Amino acid sequence: MAAMPEIVLPPSALVVIVGVSGSGKSTLAAALFRPTEILSSDAFRAMVADDEADQGATRAAFELLHLAARRRLERGRRTVIDATSLTRSARSSLIAVARATRRPAVAIVLDPPLEVCLERNATRRGRTVDASVVRRQHEALRRALAVDDALVGEGFTSVHRLTDPPPSTIVLIEAPRAPDTARAGAGTIPGRASGSKRR
Ligand code: GTP
Ligand code: MG
Repeated sequence: MAAMPEIVLPPSALVVIVGVSGSGKSTLAAALFRPTEILSSDAFRAMVADDEADQGATRAAFELLHLAARRRLERGRRTVIDATSLTRSARSSLIAVARATRRPAVAIVLDPPLEVCLERNATRRGRTVDASVVRRQHEALRRALAVDDALVGEGFTSVHRLTDPPPSTIVLIEAPRAPDTARAGAGTIPGRASGSKRR
């Protein structure tokens, strides 16, 4: 039997879910995280334009998304970004928010086969995305993943690539806060996961 994928999350992390349309970002986010932890580009487009598909609202939507992420991370609140984040510049502006607030940035890359994403897009209810757009996005993802550890090089603390596990099989492991270094005993492994929690 295949091992259940485990995602170790440091405290107060920025979690960036990377993937093409139909890769399952929103489904995964809803399965693993609280609604208030999730900042979705669709929701911010809807907030500024009453239409989650209005691409003309993208700039304004991301201004607000970045500000919301910043304010949450300043408070140490885990923040999950549900947007495609397929371009380096989209990811670097999120990493900048993590750096400015001194929080770790974790990438969860959803990478199911292109055919699966196309099929889900064709059959999903509500908003659909054109197949040509999904193909272009898939090429962008291939470029982002072409170099080993490219996302780590961009500044992500850790990167989890998932091909297509059902969200219910993913185990979130919440790493404890680092111990106070003055009191930490010899042999302490900082950031070592101590417990498992699935939501
Ligand atoms: P965009 O918001 O367009 O970028 O897509 P997304 O990556 O958020 O995909 P979303 O989670 O909305 O999933 C797209 C469609 O695929 C929906 O109809 C989901 O119900 C379906 N879906 C997502 N994940 C899975 C999965 O693991 N298994 C199956 N069978 N369907 C899934
Ligand atoms: Mg979505």
